[in-house]
Amino acid sequence: MGFKNEIERRRTFGIISHPDAGKTTLTEKLLLFGGAIQEAGAVKNNKIKKTATSDFMEIERQRGISVATSVLAFMYKDKKINILDTPGHKDFAEDTFRTLTAVDSVIVVVDVAKGVEEQTVKLVEVCRMRNIPMIVFINKLDREGKDAFDLLDDLEQKLGLSVTPLSFPIGMGYDFKGIYNIYEKNINLFSGDSKKNIEDTIAFDDIENPELETIIGEKAAQQLRDNLELVHGVYSPFHKESYLKGEQQPVFFGSALNNFGVRELLDCFIQIAPSPRPKMAEERLVHPNEKELSGFVFKIHANMDPKHRDRLAFVKIVSGTFERNKPYLHVRQGKKLKFSSPNAFFAEKKEIVDISYPGDIVGLHDTGNFKIGDTLTEGEILHYKGIPSFSPEHFRYINNADPMKSKQLGKGIDQLMDEGVAQLFTLELNGRKVIGTVGALQFEVIQYRLEHEYGAKCSYENFPVYKACWVEAKDPKNEEFKEFKRVKQKFLAKDKQKQLVFLADSQFSLQMTQQKYPSVKLHFTSEF
Ligand code: G4P
Repeated sequence: MGFKNEIERRRTFGIISHPDAGKTTLTEKLLLFGGAIQEAGAVKNNKIKKTATSDFMEIERQRGISVATSVLAFMYKDKKINILDTPGHKDFAEDTFRTLTAVDSVIVVVDVAKGVEEQTVKLVEVCRMRNIPMIVFINKLDREGKDAFDLLDDLEQKLGLSVTPLSFPIGMGYDFKGIYNIYEKNINLFSGDSKKNIEDTIAFDDIENPELETIIGEKAAQQLRDNLELVHGVYSPFHKESYLKGEQQPVFFGSALNNFGVRELLDCFIQIAPSPRPKMAEERLVHPNEKELSGFVFKIHANMDPKHRDRLAFVKIVSGTFERNKPYLHVRQGKKLKFSSPNAFFAEKKEIVDISYPGDIVGLHDTGNFKIGDTLTEGEILHYKGIPSFSPEHFRYINNADPMKSKQLGKGIDQLMDEGVAQLFTLELNGRKVIGTVGALQFEVIQYRLEHEYGAKCSYENFPVYKACWVEAKDPKNEEFKEFKRVKQKFLAKDKQKQLVFLADSQFSLQMTQQKYPSVKLHFTSEF
C-alpha cells in the first residue's frame, strides 16, 4: 500500500466526556467491532491487571479513576483507527488537553439523563478553540433521560456547538423502541440484548410509508414523523466540510452498554472523520504527505514496571514515516537519536514496529531525553506549538525530607515535571521550589512516585496562591517594570522554561497589580 493510502486510511481521535458518561464502555464496544478484543469487559479488566502489578497505579485503583492515557489501535473496514484515551477526572485535565493536541477529531460522549456536564464544557471548549471536528454521542438511551430536543439545545447553548442530529431516538428509557438513522435512512430496533445481530436494521427511505406503524406502533410512528419534521425544520442538513472545519457537529443517539447505535456511529465516523491533518509548526505548516519525518511528544508515561526505570515518550507522527534504527534530530537538544525498539500500540498490547505513518503514535523508550512538546525531525528545525501551560489551581512549597537524598529528589522532580505531572516554580527571592498542580491528588502522586521511583522523600508546606500569571513586559528596561519587580519580588518566580511568573495571592492583589503597572501584561497561560 502506498504512502498516500496509508495516510488516508488513518483516523486518530479521542473520546472525551465527563466521568461516568460511558467513555470506557464506548471505547470497548468500538474495539469489539474492530475484532481487537474478544469479549466485553476486556478494557476494564486490562486496567485492573495493570494496577495489580504496579504500586503507583494502586493510587489510581483505590480512587477508581484513570490516570493513564493510552493508545488503542484497531482495524475496521480497512481503516486504521487510533483511539487516544483521555482521563476524564478533572485533576488530570491537563493530560487530556495535551492529548487533544495529538488528535485529528473527537467524539464527545454525553449522558442522556445528565446532559452537558462540567468536564464536557471545559474539554469541548479546548476542541472548539482549535476547530477540531467533533461528533456527539448521546449515551444511555435505555434509561429515562432528558428530551432529545432539550439535549440538542443544551449542546448548542452550553457548549456553543452548532449541531445536526444524524440519528433520532424512538422513545426513551422504558419505552425505548430504537433509533431512526437519518444518515443511513434506516431503523434499528432495540431489543435490550447486546448480543443480537448488530446488522439487524430495517431500511426505511420513506418515513411516510405506512409500514412504519406496523413496525413501531401507531403512536410512536406519528411521534417519530413529527420529530423528524422538526429536525429538518430546525437544524441545517449535515455538511461534511462544515464538520471538518469544526463549524457543525453531527449527533448520534445510542446505548454503549447495549452496543446499540455504536455501529452506526462507527460507520459514519470512518466515512466523515478526517485522516491526519496538516499541523502548524512555529516555522511553517507541515503536511502529512511530506516525505521527511516530523512528530512531537504529547505524553510521557512513567514505566509501570518498577524494575525498569525508563519511561515511554508518546510521539504523534505528523509527516513522513518513522523508521526503526534511523537517526532523527531531537530539535531541542540539537542531537541525533536512534530508536531500536519503537513501540506501536494495539488494543491490548504494544509491539516493536519497523515503520509508522502520519496519524500513528509511536512509544519511544526514554531515559530522560524528552519533555512534553519536543519535536523530532530528519534535520529541519521545527517546533510544534499548542501545548501551553495553564495556571495551576493548587500550590505548595516542596521540601526535602531526607537530606542524604537531595540529588535523587532534584532528579525526580525534574523528570516528573518533564512528564507534565505538575509545574515547578522557583522563587526569585530565595530559590525555594513551589509545585503547582491542577488537582490536589497530584501532590500525593508526586510524593509517592518520588519515594518509589527515585528513593527520595519530600514534604509539603502550604503556599497560598490565587493564580499564576506569566509576565510580559512591554519594555523590560522601563522604570515601571523595574519597580514592579522590586515591589513584587516576594511573589515572583521562574517556571521551568525560565519565564517570569507572578504568583498573585488573591484576586484583589491581581487586580491592584494590573492597575498599578499597566505596561506589565499578566497572562493566564504560558503562550502569548
Ligand atoms: P466513563 O469511562 O465515561 O467514566 O464511563 P464508563 O464507561 O465507565 O461508564 C460509567 C457507567 O455507566 C458504568 O456503570 C457503565 O456500565 C454505565 N453505562 C455505560 N453505557 C451505558 C448505557 O448505554 N446504558 C446504561 N444503562 N449504562 C451505561 P457502573 O455501574 O459505574 O460500572 P460497571 O460496574 O457497570 O462496570
